[in-house]
Amino acid sequence: MNEPVGLGALDSVLSRARTAAEEVTTAAELQRVETELLGKHGELTLVQRSLGSLDPEQRRHTGRRLNEVRRQVEEVLAERRLLLRAAERAQRLADERLDLTEVVGLRRRGRVHVVERTRQELEDVFVAMGFAVVEGPEVETDWHNFEALNIPPAHPARSMWDTLFLDLGPPESVVLRTHTSPVQIRLMQRQAPPVYAVMPGRCYRRDTPDARHIPTFHQIEGLVVDHGISFAELAGTIETFTTAYFGQDIHSRLRPSYFPFTEPSAEFEITCTICKGAGCRTCSNTGWIELGGCGMVDPAVFQAVGIDPEVWTGFAFGFGIDRCAQMRHELPDMRVLLENDVRILEQL
Ligand code: DAH
Repeated sequence: MNEPVGLGALDSVLSRARTAAEEVTTAAELQRVETELLGKHGELTLVQRSLGSLDPEQRRHTGRRLNEVRRQVEEVLAERRLLLRAAERAQRLADERLDLTEVVGLRRRGRVHVVERTRQELEDVFVAMGFAVVEGPEVETDWHNFEALNIPPAHPARSMWDTLFLDLGPPESVVLRTHTSPVQIRLMQRQAPPVYAVMPGRCYRRDTPDARHIPTFHQIEGLVVDHGISFAELAGTIETFTTAYFGQDIHSRLRPSYFPFTEPSAEFEITCTICKGAGCRTCSNTGWIELGGCGMVDPAVFQAVGIDPEVWTGFAFGFGIDRCAQMRHELPDMRVLLENDVRILEQL
């Protein structure tokens, strides 16, 4: 007679399940115990396989006990699993808790980010000079961002802007604006000259960040359209702005350049505020920092928006707001503007 074999083994499985459930401390350990007791090669399965060799009466008896024990083992393990999961969740929450007492303790106050403040200050300078402030969308059509600005599809001048395209409409028809110049187009489409406006906003380029470039940055565009506007008014406006914003000892200069939407075109530079013109790493030892571009509005641009270039002339300029903030606050590396380290931001 082998009757006690099955029953004794079953009782031992149950008591070991209870002990093990108390001892395990992780869900993974519990899983291992479960496999040992209930798995395909586990002890209860062995007992079940041996049922065939028992006589019918014993088989019924042992079989019933086997089912009871299996259910009890499952219950014991399930209960323990719930407790372990709750403990593991509590531990995870504790680990992920952010300690904000440092910030609270120092009574730090929220403030306007330096780039936003720079935008407001630049607007103030231009508003004082009689300019209106106008905004446009950051998601632009290829036509506004390029074509209307005299940059036809596939023209080599497009390589001046490393463009991010959106997957909308026909291929490459919608872009994240690469500059604020498309706002000039939108403004001239809806307002007849004379125009005196600045257009600030965020721009996007597929640029690798370095000391002077970040891939999402801000520009402020300027546009003047009136009778008899000349290059002298452009140069005077830029000089007035430079001294008003940076102070009397910072100067501007224009260098011949090329932009498809202006003719003639120039780059404008200001004295490097970090080395005061002596030459340093930030200005590549030139003593000058490029702020942006400018020029006389190209007749092709006036034609694209239905303004008669025989009647009206104008100038335009566009420059980096982040670059201004960098120069004004003498930041050797522009990337700090994106890192949002409070210890730096609160000094600006
Ligand atoms: N949009 C130019 C750029 O991002 C900057 C610029 C140059 C704007 C000349 C102008 C301009 O309005 O006349 O590179």
